[in-house]
Amino acid sequence: MAKHNGRSKAASFLSDGFLFIGGALVAFLVVWAVWSFFSPSPTPSPAFSISPYSDRKSGPDTSVSAAATSCAGGANLRHDPPDANFYDDPKLTYTIDTPPIKNWDEKRKEWLKQHPSFAAGAENRIFMVTGSQPTPCKNPIGDYLLLKLFKNKVDYCRRHGIDIFYNNVLFQPKMFSFWAKTPTVKAAMLAHPEAEWIWWVDSDAAFTDMDFKLPLDRYKAYNLVLHGWPNLIEKKSWTSINAGVFLIRNCQWAMDFMDVWASMGPQSPDYDKWGETLSTMFKDKIFPESDDQSGLVYLLLEEKEKWGNKIYVEGEFYFEGYWMEIVGTFDNITERYTGIEKDVAGLRRRHAEKVSEGYATVWEEHLKDAGNGRGSWRRPFITHFTGCQPCSGDHNQMYSGQTCFDAMQKALSFADNQVLRNYGFVHPDLLDPSTVNPLPFDYPA
Ligand SMILES: *[C@@H]1O[C@H](CO)[C@@H](O)[C@H](O)[C@H]1NC(C)=O
Repeated sequence: MAKHNGRSKAASFLSDGFLFIGGALVAFLVVWAVWSFFSPSPTPSPAFSISPYSDRKSGPDTSVSAAATSCAGGANLRHDPPDANFYDDPKLTYTIDTPPIKNWDEKRKEWLKQHPSFAAGAENRIFMVTGSQPTPCKNPIGDYLLLKLFKNKVDYCRRHGIDIFYNNVLFQPKMFSFWAKTPTVKAAMLAHPEAEWIWWVDSDAAFTDMDFKLPLDRYKAYNLVLHGWPNLIEKKSWTSINAGVFLIRNCQWAMDFMDVWASMGPQSPDYDKWGETLSTMFKDKIFPESDDQSGLVYLLLEEKEKWGNKIYVEGEFYFEGYWMEIVGTFDNITERYTGIEKDVAGLRRRHAEKVSEGYATVWEEHLKDAGNGRGSWRRPFITHFTGCQPCSGDHNQMYSGQTCFDAMQKALSFADNQVLRNYGFVHPDLLDPSTVNPLPFDYPA
């Protein structure tokens, strides 16, 4: 995944404010570009009741009625009436390079009508998709890191009632590495008509704020949400957005978009041509092959009317953030949060993990001045280990493997502490994932 190395490198310069790296540096970067293979498989959690990812404004005090409602309206996991729907159409295929799906919106709607217990709350339901390569990691600790990174996503999903699918096969054998997400997301859209949104999260990204929820209201008029920097998009930089984490609406627009996006990939007869087009357009692109991220920026800019206008570029918080810029802030953030807990008895109260969203809304009141994203003291939402290549170990040579490893341990412990809190334990040292201490009653009063 030479590409990811290159990306991270460019991303780091980007975050430091100098995006347009000179030719010499570009050449230097190319040297470090190494391919690694990533691919995104199913781990649907058998939820007895699907909790919609809706904004529950209720605090812990009113959560009783909310919970009662969700129980009464729980999804029926056994009801699948014999009436025909899109699954019975022999021509419909899950693969990416096949006749396009048509009238998906109507087909999904029809399915929801047949499955009324899923229809309730469908408009805000998110389904998470992630994955990694089919074979063991080359890096001896790669599979250990991938397991912890997956655990981190499962923790986030459990706290918010989101189902998750971990794919570790290539649904289109030629679509290796970062191209693997496109066929996976398409198959997930068909497998999960109950979900309005598919949330792709790269294997090397970690949730470092277990409470924060995507501001879905903001994305109402959009079908695709990406993290990016609008001023850099205009300057035609291939790192002006990050394709490693995205939210895509389960709709016909997205089906069409995925087809167009995937048509730039290695399985396509136009792959080489796209490599040329993208390299010509993005002067800072560091390798000649077509890649998914440049492809996205291309569609944003060149087909604005058709695609760009439905794409929301999120820049207000760490929809995903570069680890180098984030990891150093964890200690101070922990201190700030602990200080707040010392003052607010309500936040120290022990509670069931299931109602943690209620406590998150109480936290919000105390985080109004924190800001969000770069320079803020709020917990960063997603920390992305771009360039660390945990599975292959072919990390960017700009930093050592140990630096990456320590940063991942730190971020994952930082996140785990938010989870373990509900289980009565804490890691006293973020760099020592083996050690936990029991939390005393009323900690940290
Ligand atoms: C953490 O806080 C200390 C004291 O306020 C400050 O000097 C330091 O720059 C902060 N570190 C980071 C990484 O923000």
